[in-house]
Amino acid sequence: MTLELLAAQAQACTACGLAKNRTHVVFGEGNPDARLMIVGEGPGEEEDLQGRPFVGRSGQLLDKILEAAGIPRRSVYIANIVKCRPPQNRVPEPIEAKTCTSLWLIRQIQLVRPQIIIPLGATALEFFAGEKLSITKVRGKFFEWQGIKILPMFHPAYLLRNPSRAPGSPKHLTWLDIQLVKKTLD
Ligand code: URA
Repeated sequence: MTLELLAAQAQACTACGLAKNRTHVVFGEGNPDARLMIVGEGPGEEEDLQGRPFVGRSGQLLDKILEAAGIPRRSVYIANIVKCRPPQNRVPEPIEAKTCTSLWLIRQIQLVRPQIIIPLGATALEFFAGEKLSITKVRGKFFEWQGIKILPMFHPAYLLRNPSRAPGSPKHLTWLDIQLVKKTLD
């Protein structure tokens, strides 16, 4: 199996109700040999239109964060918990997340085999932690999932709503977190 083949299969997916309203399946993209994988929640409006992850306002901020830490976007692999946009950008239902990750995300991770995964936001964190946790409480420390180091970070949409860069602010903490990731990558 390759990421290309898996992506082609995903284009025809009708395993959950999100298939009905999508424009594009947003499978994910990036370096198939990436040491760093980033996992968001699900496509927003712009991602649904373009068929690519993190290309809207959140994506632009994510690009800046990566760039500032000296991690080129093309060097990483970027995917989401669900591959189809939930209506009005609502949080994916547990059954949608379960169905989609079982079919696609787990296989993507097995093919990329990253050293580190960054779950962005609470929905992605829940998949790796197996329970609902707040990013504020668990960020800044790695935990392990299937032998892969996991470092949860705030979702860029949350950072857009909280623009302060003061010490201890979500943006400041995110800067510390991405530097820790950069330092840990070998
Ligand atoms: N937010 C996400 O969680 N994923 C995207 O791809 C875009 C915005």
